[in-house]
Amino acid sequence: MLTEKRDEVSQLELARQDCFIEEIRALNNAENKDKYFYNLAMGCQMNAHDSEKLKSMLVRMGYKETNDEEKADFVIYNTCCVRENAEVKVYGKLGFLKHIKQTKPNLIVAICGCMMQQETVLQKIKESHRHVNIIFGTFNLHKLPELLKTHLQTGDRVIDIWNEHGEIIEDTNYLREFPYKASVNIVYGCNNFCTYCIVPYVRGRERSREKEDIKNEIKGLIADGVKEIVLLGQNVNSYGKNLENPVTFAQLLREINEIDGLERLRFMTSHPKDLSDELIYAMRDCEKVCNYLHLPFQSGSTKILTKMNRGYTKEQYLTLIEKIKKEIPDILISTDIIVGFPGETEEDFQETLDVAKKVGFSTAFTFMYSKRTGTPAATMENQVDEEVVHDRFNRLLGVLNPIIFDIHSALVGKTLKVIVEGVSKQDDNIVSGRSENNCLVHFKGDKTLIGQTVPIKIVGNKTFYLIGERI
Ligand code: SAH
Ligand code: SF4
Ligand code: F3S
Repeated sequence: MLTEKRDEVSQLELARQDCFIEEIRALNNAENKDKYFYNLAMGCQMNAHDSEKLKSMLVRMGYKETNDEEKADFVIYNTCCVRENAEVKVYGKLGFLKHIKQTKPNLIVAICGCMMQQETVLQKIKESHRHVNIIFGTFNLHKLPELLKTHLQTGDRVIDIWNEHGEIIEDTNYLREFPYKASVNIVYGCNNFCTYCIVPYVRGRERSREKEDIKNEIKGLIADGVKEIVLLGQNVNSYGKNLENPVTFAQLLREINEIDGLERLRFMTSHPKDLSDELIYAMRDCEKVCNYLHLPFQSGSTKILTKMNRGYTKEQYLTLIEKIKKEIPDILISTDIIVGFPGETEEDFQETLDVAKKVGFSTAFTFMYSKRTGTPAATMENQVDEEVVHDRFNRLLGVLNPIIFDIHSALVGKTLKVIVEGVSKQDDNIVSGRSENNCLVHFKGDKTLIGQTVPIKIVGNKTFYLIGERI
């Protein structure tokens, strides 16, 4: 009953937005000339997925996509603020748009996403970037048509930022970047408040979608040709805890695994503190769940992990890895690491190197700590000197790269099933795709293979990708 009522609200709101879409489409058609949009997603897969939805709305409004920003009539940036350099990039791009707008006054500039959820950023854009016409945040993406219509009608700047989520309004009818793989949101927001991280402040509290809604979306995607599903959440392992009828993430995986026609199931991101034995067994038992896990450890020092509020120790992380490898021996594991968190000493950093060596990651996303205003770590004592951070960062890569090379070398001679994603930009006769364990594989082939699952014998290793041959 509650689900039905929720669906009704959500459907009504989407129907309202559909009316604005039609109105804008009629306006665009009346102009008798092609109108273009430029759509840029920054940051994580959630933003990329949100941008697929923005793109769909724009296409339905009669705009065509362009990769040439200068050709566009409508430019939208979906921003990220997880690290300072992501924000710097946005201000740089806004400066560039200001310049374009001088010769093209009808250009409409919209900006949305995580950065907009910060009051200081909003003020700065309001005051110093007056050429931005439409501003909205992470909780009201579905309102783009209404906001654009208001701007077109009034010529005024339109700002609509929500401070918290309303109903979950999930339009599942959108254009996908890839025909054969799709992302599906399962949990929004984050409750973990790692002390360095801005995400909980800009994405709100954790809330899970109903299991049946998720399964129905997946069934629809499969009917539309999708073979591989990536379940998205800042911490997928806490999925379902706050639903009226609680469900665990492991249960969700087991049920999705039963859906006919699905070939591969991936998910990200897992938080080590919430990765249960039940989940490890579900990953082991479900043949469609890939033998790959992204499990950020951030730091190898228990002292730093405590200051980060991560909720596990170095030893607990290593024990967890051992358990996972025991149950799923051919699994590959990737991670995120931060260097230079406040108070990190050389000894702490050595602990990080130790974890990197002990686990043997197939990929690692490495970051220099970036101070985020409003987070507890921003005001912690003993902020680490920039030069020291750079030096540690480079030493970390020096340790990680040979490990990544070795992990990939162990795959030479093996046969992996690869779903082909595209043709190489350098060579039309080379295609690339991903294996179940998420390795990038290049081999001879042409574009007719895109979307197909092909068994490939691995014959070479180039650290960040493998070379294969069809068998
Ligand atoms: N929810 C995911 C990750 C979200 S952000 C998780 O918990 O794993 C992706 C990565 O960005 C994080 O894992 C972390 O390594 C990095 N990150 C987040 N805030 C950062 C900051 N202030 N400085 C540097 N790296 C940061
Ligand atoms: Fe940020 Fe931590 Fe939440 Fe990940 S789990 S989004 S790092 S607060
Ligand atoms: Fe960035 Fe927002 Fe994702 S801050 S990492 S785009 S949730």
